[in-house]
Amino acid sequence: MQQAYCAEIRALNAQREPVPTAYVDTYGCQQNEADSELLRGMLTEMGYEIVDTDQGADVIVINTCAIREHAEQRVLGNVGALVHGKRRKPSQIICLCGCMAREQHVADRLRQSYRHVDLVFGPQVLWRFPELLRRVILRRGRVFETQDVPGAIAEGLPVRRSGKVKAWVSIMYGCNNFCTYCIVPYVRGRERSREPEAILAEIRQLVEQGYRDITLLGQNVNSYGKDLGEDIDFPDLLERAAAIPGEFLLRFMTSHPKDATEKLFDVMARCEKVAPVIHLPFQSGNTRVLTAMNRRYTREQYLEKVHALRARIPDVVLTSDVIVGFPGETTAEFEDTLSLIEEVRFDALFTFIYSPRKGTPAAQLPDPMSKEEKSANFDRLVEAQNRISLEKHRAYIGTVQHCLVDGVSEDPRNNLNARTPGGRLVHLSGDASLVGQFVDVEIVDCSTWALFGEKR
Ligand code: SAH
Ligand code: SF4
Ligand code: F3S
Repeated sequence: MQQAYCAEIRALNAQREPVPTAYVDTYGCQQNEADSELLRGMLTEMGYEIVDTDQGADVIVINTCAIREHAEQRVLGNVGALVHGKRRKPSQIICLCGCMAREQHVADRLRQSYRHVDLVFGPQVLWRFPELLRRVILRRGRVFETQDVPGAIAEGLPVRRSGKVKAWVSIMYGCNNFCTYCIVPYVRGRERSREPEAILAEIRQLVEQGYRDITLLGQNVNSYGKDLGEDIDFPDLLERAAAIPGEFLLRFMTSHPKDATEKLFDVMARCEKVAPVIHLPFQSGNTRVLTAMNRRYTREQYLEKVHALRARIPDVVLTSDVIVGFPGETTAEFEDTLSLIEEVRFDALFTFIYSPRKGTPAAQLPDPMSKEEKSANFDRLVEAQNRISLEKHRAYIGTVQHCLVDGVSEDPRNNLNARTPGGRLVHLSGDASLVGQFVDVEIVDCSTWALFGEKR
């Protein structure tokens, strides 16, 4: 059905001179990056040339994120600014999709105050983009497709990948966990898993095409398969993916600690193609706060998981997410977060100050701590983690790492970027033809954020 819409728009575009262009801008997580690759695939199918600026583009798509207030403000500011380009080019079609499109207050505001936006649609109906765009083109009216519908899984959508070495593969969509601070379950809908055969076929094809670094994506990959009729869970899927012939590494994100099992850690330890790295968000080191967040594990249970993992893979790279200033969190409770990071010593941490999201339970809680106090706690956390990250990076100096060269950089002294098996960034110099190859790199220097190496 969507193919017919694509063909219809392609026929219209084929008569246009010059070839019409489309620009896709992405905010938010890797799931959104992956969705944007599908949007670009569909636009290419429809006869648009993909460009990397909104200036003068015939179609602009803004794929948005609703995770924190700041992200939303940035999107609304940038979408507001598009009005000038549209004045210069009234035929331009401006689309807004992604997680913000599913928030009622955002949809209302777009409808009333952002009249230059032509099409608004939520993540559950992403696959219907050709049909919705056609409606805008043929009727020249505004289209809002933002209501709550059960998300379907459309297989076989065209995809236009941004890289040649690294690729994303969504294995499931949505989230059922309802952490009390989080908007994702409301905007992305319920968990739905792709069929394993479709996922494995996609990975096989990627490996054949030369992709070397493949990341399996889901809000909580550890609940993969629970909604399928078959007897398969995430570790099973990972093991089957790792059995695909070829030289490549598999990564995955994100893992909810409550569902990260010893079976998963065993598969990670057993399968050489599964990279020795896990992103395991802990959010808080205090059990009362974890309970208020509805995370469904305690501080001790989290630490046990880390212990069980390190018992199997001692040098596993561990990264995590933390929220500072959850409503009602005291500074004494925050100290438990600090002590947890000192105990675990993560390789890297993504730190966030709590941002109230309309419609989530936490947004109703009393939140007495001042902004200043939250910022002071946040700064202490960042400082402690920076010290730990630097110490962990220093320990790499003098070692040789089997790295995948995954891109070129702007820095003329270190013109290549590479990743250790655990995913740490390495800068080195070498021939650009090394991109896409695994090479041995001796680590000679480091910063808080990256390692510096020389090809052996
Ligand atoms: N599904 C992933 C997280 C996706 S959101 C998981 O459960 O691990 C990425 C991170 O954003 C979360 O881990 C959390 O640390 C942060 N986050 C989510 N909602 C937030 C909010 N309302 N305020 C601040 N940070 C938030
Ligand atoms: Fe949000 Fe929690 Fe779901 Fe992650 S697991 S997306 S933090 S509700
Ligand atoms: Fe943002 Fe949606 Fe991802 S809210 S973090 S883009 S799932």
